[in-house]
Amino acid sequence: MADKHAKLELGGQTYDFPVLEGSTGPDVVDIRKLYGLTGAFTFDPGYKSTASCESALTYIDGDEGVLLHRGYPIGQLAEHSSFMEVSYLLLNGELPSKAVLDEFEFTITRHTMLHEQLAQFYRGFRRDAHPMAVMCGVVGALSAFYHDSTDISDPHQRKIASHRLIAKMPTIAAMAYKYSVGQPFIYPDNRLSYTGNFLKMTFGVPAEEYEVIPAVERAMDRIFILHADHEQNASTSTVRLAGSSGANPFACIAAGIACLWGPAHGGANEAALNMLREIGTPDRIGHYIDRAKDKNDPFRLMGFGHRVYKNYDPRATVMQKTVREVFDALNVKDPIFETALRLEEIALSDPYFAEKKLFPNVDFYSGIILSAIGFPTTMFTALFALARTVGWVAQWNEMISDPGQVIGRPRQLYTGPTERDYVPVEQR
Ligand code: SDX
Repeated sequence: MADKHAKLELGGQTYDFPVLEGSTGPDVVDIRKLYGLTGAFTFDPGYKSTASCESALTYIDGDEGVLLHRGYPIGQLAEHSSFMEVSYLLLNGELPSKAVLDEFEFTITRHTMLHEQLAQFYRGFRRDAHPMAVMCGVVGALSAFYHDSTDISDPHQRKIASHRLIAKMPTIAAMAYKYSVGQPFIYPDNRLSYTGNFLKMTFGVPAEEYEVIPAVERAMDRIFILHADHEQNASTSTVRLAGSSGANPFACIAAGIACLWGPAHGGANEAALNMLREIGTPDRIGHYIDRAKDKNDPFRLMGFGHRVYKNYDPRATVMQKTVREVFDALNVKDPIFETALRLEEIALSDPYFAEKKLFPNVDFYSGIILSAIGFPTTMFTALFALARTVGWVAQWNEMISDPGQVIGRPRQLYTGPTERDYVPVEQR
């Protein structure tokens, strides 16, 4: 590696910091000694110029619209792989042989059941509770049931906890949906694929056989692949920060779910479909584009823009193609897709969006597909959390197994009052 350095002049002194190179992407200026040497902090609210860690999992090139998982382009994985295979890849670093993949799927399948007492947790929620509130609560409670996989210093326990989380998220999400519609919980069916089992637990009823539609199973599995991991996004950073204190993996994933819920992050798929429904017909698009451009109007085009992608989100490309496949498979005629296509066309031809490099992101089309499959909008972010759990777990494992790992503890620029004496109430 080239011996690169960065110099900083501060307080009349010049400091030298090493510049580290990755296997690809931007270099980083290693400022770990900056405060000790200079007494000053860096200042980067929102971490727009900060690399928080070293990782080998996922690489994003925002300008080129590139997304790689362990080096494999998302478009190829979405086309040729499966969510279980991508999960194995993220966790272990290489694509598995058929035998190894079969063994991994066998293991995950046999962790899909929940401790029977966890079903009682659902009864404590209102039927109209948002599924993300249920997910936060139930996933956080897992640590009260699986004490044999909370010792993070034991690689074997970390592996079991990881498999349990990946396996149980579909069951937990499906149960949240069933509870909201007053239908009985459906137990996992080990004869089905990971995604087919999730569809049956969600849409099956005890009164009749449930037939998995292959085109829907394929589309759902592809949607899971597209949401599996995404570098150091807000919820992944939340999981890492929670994990850096030594918290158990179930608590860390519950923290990630809470962060993902925000409309600026994983909640955008629900917000994007609600926005499209509010727009309704293409003739009303201009009004919303004007609102999105108005600095005094907090309205934003949900499903547009991204902190990293300043080009088309490669996941949105796959998502758009998948809409047509699902619509054809289910013979869906929903004008909302035409409205979405027209909105994208108008936005991308508008200088405001071009200048700010605002393109559709992964959330812009996903809601249309999920709605066509039959999910209520309130379930969209829960599905995002289901899929992102493997990314969170893989990132958490990568951090915990790093021998140099320390607790994350940012500092601040303090602008509050300097020291002053207490004033008794009678003198105020
Ligand atoms: C996800 O990080 C990840 O990787 C996340 C994710 C993942 O897989 O984990 O990819 C998933 O969260 C995708 C993003 C989903 N969110 C949305 O679709 C919500 C709408 N988008 C915005 O809220 C916004 O674009 C963000 C939050 C996604 C990105 O925000 P940034 O990078 O902090 O950029 P910004 O908010 O500072 O916006 C830059 C400019 C601003 O204008 P100026 O202040 O420079 O004049 O662009 C404008 C914004 O006003 N802008 C928008 C806009 N998004 C940004 N204007 C209108 N509509 C929008 N959607």
